[in-house]
Amino acid sequence: MLSGCSAGLRLLVLRRCVLLSRNVTSGNPGRAAAVDGVLSAFRSICGDDGVSLGETVREQHGKDESVHRCRPPDVVVFPRCVEEVSALAKLCHRHQLPIIPFGTGTGLEGGVGAVKGGVCFSLRNMDQILDLHPEDFDVTVEPGVTRKALNSYLRETGLWFPVDPGADASLCGMAATSASGTNAVRYGTMRENVMNLEVVLADGSVIHTAGRNRRPRKTAAGYNLTNLFVGSEGTLGIITKTTLRLYGVPEEMVSAVCSFSSVQAAVDSTVQILQAGVPIARIEFLDEVMIDACNKFSSLSYPVSPTLFLEFHGSERSLEEQVNTTEDITQSNGGSDFQWARDAETRNRLWKARHDAWYAALAMRPGCKAYATDVCVPLSRLPQIIVETKEDLIESRLTGHIVGHVGDGNFHCLMVMDPSDQDELHRVHLFSQRLARRALAMDGTCTGEHGVGLGKRSLLCEEVGPSVIRVMQSLKDAIDPNNLMNPGKILL
Ligand SMILES: Cc1cc2nc3c(=O)[nH]c(=O)nc-3n(C[C@H](O)[C@H](O)[C@H](O)COP(=O)(O)OP(=O)(O)OC[C@H]3O[C@@H](n4cnc5c(N)ncnc54)[C@H](O)[C@@H]3O)c2cc1C
Ligand SMILES: *[C@@H]1O[C@H](CO)[C@@H](O)[C@H](O)[C@H]1NC(C)=O
Ligand SMILES: *[C@@H]1O[C@H](CO)[C@@H](O)[C@H](O)[C@H]1NC(C)=O
Ligand SMILES: *[C@@H]1O[C@H](CO)[C@@H](O)[C@H](O)[C@H]1NC(C)=O
Repeated sequence: MLSGCSAGLRLLVLRRCVLLSRNVTSGNPGRAAAVDGVLSAFRSICGDDGVSLGETVREQHGKDESVHRCRPPDVVVFPRCVEEVSALAKLCHRHQLPIIPFGTGTGLEGGVGAVKGGVCFSLRNMDQILDLHPEDFDVTVEPGVTRKALNSYLRETGLWFPVDPGADASLCGMAATSASGTNAVRYGTMRENVMNLEVVLADGSVIHTAGRNRRPRKTAAGYNLTNLFVGSEGTLGIITKTTLRLYGVPEEMVSAVCSFSSVQAAVDSTVQILQAGVPIARIEFLDEVMIDACNKFSSLSYPVSPTLFLEFHGSERSLEEQVNTTEDITQSNGGSDFQWARDAETRNRLWKARHDAWYAALAMRPGCKAYATDVCVPLSRLPQIIVETKEDLIESRLTGHIVGHVGDGNFHCLMVMDPSDQDELHRVHLFSQRLARRALAMDGTCTGEHGVGLGKRSLLCEEVGPSVIRVMQSLKDAIDPNNLMNPGKILL
């Protein structure tokens, strides 16, 4: 494990992404035979149309939205309930076939690629919302339920689930990657909002990480296994249910947009707003390159300069106070007057534009691919790291769109690049590595929300150190001794 931290093992993942996918089973006759032998048993569990060998289906399940190249599994199965997941996992265990859980494939770190072949468990047919307890503010969902589907279901109840990655991802996939989004500054990430998980382990056994049906608001009962599985990226088990915390829809909400003459002024304002204790619900930074792309993609007309998108939640009185303090701070940093979005339609348009930032960046260079860096630093270091990152972009002759959840100290540099241009790919790779190391040097992390996947395994090692990696490896070995669960991810 120690060697995993050495510079020699760092992989040029971005370079590999342009290689064409090859036929994985053809290189491994042993596994091909095992897959063949087990197919009829798979079909008897989840039906003929619950098992797919089709090339298109396998390719759809071998890649996510990242630049990592497609690694199709040998076969895709579509279980309909936890009993089927468990029965399929037992077969995989008996035949030593890798298991790769698949939510909605919106991941950004190559997490679903079948690097060792094996069986992809697509969980989209398990899409029931179970056990809504409005009076306790919690709900349990199956892995095919997405965040938007849950919020539509909750519409009449006065409750909502706030964690909102840009994509309409599955909630169990979000638990698996410890996702967050624009609301995390007020409501927390998946880590704060998952109360219990039902998980099928590699040998097919089914566990409930907090105990079956348990959903207390707090507990001091033993090791927190729920937390261990949040962010485990499919490497420890298949999440077949998650119990989530819900929130009351705020009485009032208003959104505002404020432009600044410099990045420093926008980011300084963010830090001061949080230091002043304003319970802001959303505070998103877009640099001038990003706002220009969003203007074009979403037909908006904001000034092309560093910008904050803000949102306030609360009673009318509390909003007035929050807005007063915030306006004082932005004005003292030379910010523009607020452009308001008060009605639901204008607010939704604003936040849709923000969530579409990824597609807005891609639209600036059609035919290209995007890679998003994802560092997160303590709040006070944010102005410095963003300013240095923008200088680095210029020196590296790269276009990067900076956008981020700055209220958490987390920001993305969306790099849009031509995958056939080796020199550009190389510069993007070196830039991303420098940015991650800059964040580590400022006591931060290489990934605030997208996860480790394939590309950040050696950075993880640098971040936590070899002795922590050894403990992580022993946990993995204890829970999945044959390394069947999503092999090749997180740990080297
Ligand atoms: C436009 C865009 C914007 C995004 N914005 C954000 C953002 O703001 N914040 C953020 O955090 N992320 C963001 N993402 C990334 C992505 O949406 C999240 O990582 C999301 O949590 C992935 O969920 P999924 O269901 O698509 O997972 P997948 O891509 O299907 O899988 C991701 C990983 O989780 C594992 N996994 C999936 N489901 C399960 C399960 N049921 N049990 C066990 N393991 C499982 C997979 O094996 C894989 O390793 C964005 C992506 C896009 C394309
Ligand atoms: C992959 O290889 C297997 C085994 O040789 C073969 O049966 C299959 O047709 C190949 N698939 C593709 C897509 O080439
Ligand atoms: C355990 O972890 C879960 C998921 O991260 C979290 O919601 C919960 O609050 C944690 N429990 C305790 C007692 O810390
Ligand atoms: C907010 O500012 C306005 C105008 O400056 C003032 O009249 C009002 O009392 C302030 N409200 C609060 C809650 O501070």
